[in-house]
Amino acid sequence: PLKIVRTVKELRQQVSEWKQQGLKVGLVPTMGALHHGHISLVKQLQKDCDRMVVSIFVNPKQFGPSEDLDKYPRQEKLDAEKLTEAGVELLYAPTVEEMYPEGFLTTVSIAGMTEVLCGASRPGHFDGVTTVVTKLLLQCLPDMAIFGEKDFQQLAVLKKLVRDLDIPVQVVSGKLIRDEDGLATSSRNVYLSPEQRTIALEINRTLKKIVDDLEAGRTSVADATAQGKQHLLEVGFNEVQYLEVRDAKTLQLVAEITKPARVLVAAILGATRLIDNMAIEPK
Ligand code: PAJ
Repeated sequence: PLKIVRTVKELRQQVSEWKQQGLKVGLVPTMGALHHGHISLVKQLQKDCDRMVVSIFVNPKQFGPSEDLDKYPRQEKLDAEKLTEAGVELLYAPTVEEMYPEGFLTTVSIAGMTEVLCGASRPGHFDGVTTVVTKLLLQCLPDMAIFGEKDFQQLAVLKKLVRDLDIPVQVVSGKLIRDEDGLATSSRNVYLSPEQRTIALEINRTLKKIVDDLEAGRTSVADATAQGKQHLLEVGFNEVQYLEVRDAKTLQLVAEITKPARVLVAAILGATRLIDNMAIEPK
């Protein structure tokens, strides 16, 4: 049965009880509105862990002033049912006051790799993410935590965070999950109209073409990304915030594929911001 707790104290009590019994504990941090991308992270971590904790916290600090904090989907009851079905033991769903009590002053901030890609279009976003994830990891102190490759930059940033701060948690990469039509699964996909969804599928197609062309050596990084951007604008995206090829580890821009790379995109469709990415392997 799924147990729901809302305080750090209750979370720590349960996790330390499990650890005393020699059980391995896994944590999946989320903002709720759970879909099969989230559940796949649970399933992946369950292979290595005896007990699973999922956190649901819509973190105000990672939303910009004009972003969708207020309309972000909240459906804890449905989420709890999905977690029960997935065999999760504990749901940690703190209030904003529990996470950020009055007088909270600390920000955890990573330089460099947070200033590009999503960091450039969403100022302050990654400070919000690194601050809350530091807190979640220290509150729970799981053996392992998993983050999805859907948010590829976030995953790279969080791996760096855990290394730099010596947080004693093993961070695992979760595979990017797509809907059957190829769209990267996201809680924000509910914002799309059927017409917009058809247009949104062009992201997946465009990335695939870039990966295929670069892996086959048919084009240059510069031409592939320029053409991809133009194509997305032509099919109806309002804006392409970035479409770039970067080193898969350091997130530095690359002009040629000599090491594992990643093509990453963020584009605006109507009022919805969509992100996606794919691996590019060197020959
Ligand atoms: P959220 O968007 O709810 O995502 C929670 C986790 O699920 C993240 O690690 C994200 O990368 C992963 N995820 C989402 N969609 C996925 C997909 N289609 N395939 C694979 N993994 C997917 O990311 C956040 O919340 C927040 O920033 C958080 C890390 C919880 C900090 O507030």
